[in-house]
Amino acid sequence: TRKGAETVYDLQLQTGTSNFLEGLKTETIGINQPYLGPLLEMQSGERVKLNVHNTLDETATLHWHGFHLPARFDGNPHQAIAPGETWSAQFVVRQRGGLYWYHSHAHKRSGPQVYRGLAGPIYVRDEESDALDLPSEYGVTDLPLIVQDRAFQRDGQLIYGTSMHTLMMGMLGDTLLVNGAIDPVFEYTTDLLRLRLLNGSNARIYRFSFNDGRSMRQIASDGGLLAAPVPLTDIILSPGERAEILVDLSNGQPAQLVAHPVQNSMMGGRMMRGRMGNRQMRGSGPEFPVLSLLPAPTRRSAEPVPEKLLQLPRPNPAAAVRTRRFVMNMPMGMMGGGFTINGKTMDMNRIDERVKLDTSEIWQIENTSMMAHPFHIHDVQFRILDRNGRPPSAAESGLKDTVLVAPGETVRLLLAFSDYSDPNTPYMYHCHILEHEDAGMMGQFTVE
Ligand code: C2O
Ligand code: CU
Ligand code: CU
Repeated sequence: TRKGAETVYDLQLQTGTSNFLEGLKTETIGINQPYLGPLLEMQSGERVKLNVHNTLDETATLHWHGFHLPARFDGNPHQAIAPGETWSAQFVVRQRGGLYWYHSHAHKRSGPQVYRGLAGPIYVRDEESDALDLPSEYGVTDLPLIVQDRAFQRDGQLIYGTSMHTLMMGMLGDTLLVNGAIDPVFEYTTDLLRLRLLNGSNARIYRFSFNDGRSMRQIASDGGLLAAPVPLTDIILSPGERAEILVDLSNGQPAQLVAHPVQNSMMGGRMMRGRMGNRQMRGSGPEFPVLSLLPAPTRRSAEPVPEKLLQLPRPNPAAAVRTRRFVMNMPMGMMGGGFTINGKTMDMNRIDERVKLDTSEIWQIENTSMMAHPFHIHDVQFRILDRNGRPPSAAESGLKDTVLVAPGETVRLLLAFSDYSDPNTPYMYHCHILEHEDAGMMGQFTVE
């Protein structure tokens, strides 16, 4: 609802019953509905207020992933909402147009809560992006795809593992839900479709491609449009990452988007070379259906794809006032296996880093563990300066808030801290494998 110059969203965390599997009921949680939450549409520059009412019997939060906002409205573990309570976040949308999302960030409970359904998509629109001739008719030429793997018991209930193996690998499922549906079908009515992919899984990394090998064009990464469309046949997304793609359907044939699971283990180094363009990278295990596309009897032809999208300034590392190192590790021998950043596990009462308002910094992320970890930072959209000393691919050259770092890799990011400071309320940086996050692979920073 709009009240004056502010758009108000009333969101209710609630339990529900979903029907994922033929003839079986699954107990889930969602936002204003049984599983997941509604699409929130926001305009860059507008003021929004989000009222979050928690009707669950446990403490929860909603975090606005990818948003640049005051720390007290971040929806992180410091803004916990007790059962029966309502919490309100109020801020000006300062994002570029793109796909963002919201999800639970409850202390040590993000994994199970997101798994059961506490997540949803956000579209931000801005004038500059809207001025481009891109498919943008929601549900017709423009679809969000929230990709999540789940495991089910025979009676239809969700399985959330608590074994040491699950803790290590993160919670992996054998069934893929896309916007809460298995193997969905979409009848296309235009020649060009825009798919906004969100890896909303707890732990699984996917390589997306079309089963007929057709190429697609990536037009956006986490924080909005790229400088120009990037042609590719495969795209890898780790938990938390987003990508928007355009699919050419002018041949009028059926097509299927599939997701190949990417093994996350010592293989990481090879996997990452695959991301850098080495064709030897292959997913392991059976592929999951993501979306089947069928032609409608009559279809519209589409506008040509613009050759240039949004020009971003060249990242200038010389503007950085300092470099901070973040070393992700999984030391053995710590109770329950350790998940650390700079040798520490998350402590709500410890501020790990204090950065200065209106400065830029280089954050150097190193992975000395045997698994790949998606490193996510709150409050900012960053640029990747280099990966192992080499410049990022075109698809990784846009705005990002989550970056996959394979074993042995070093990735340098350029971040700017602006607009909001609060010495008492921290933001987080963490691994977006939710089981690792819950186990403490997370730190806190303030902007002062
Ligand atoms: Cu998407 Cu700190 O989270
Ligand atoms: Cu976040
Ligand atoms: Cu991790």
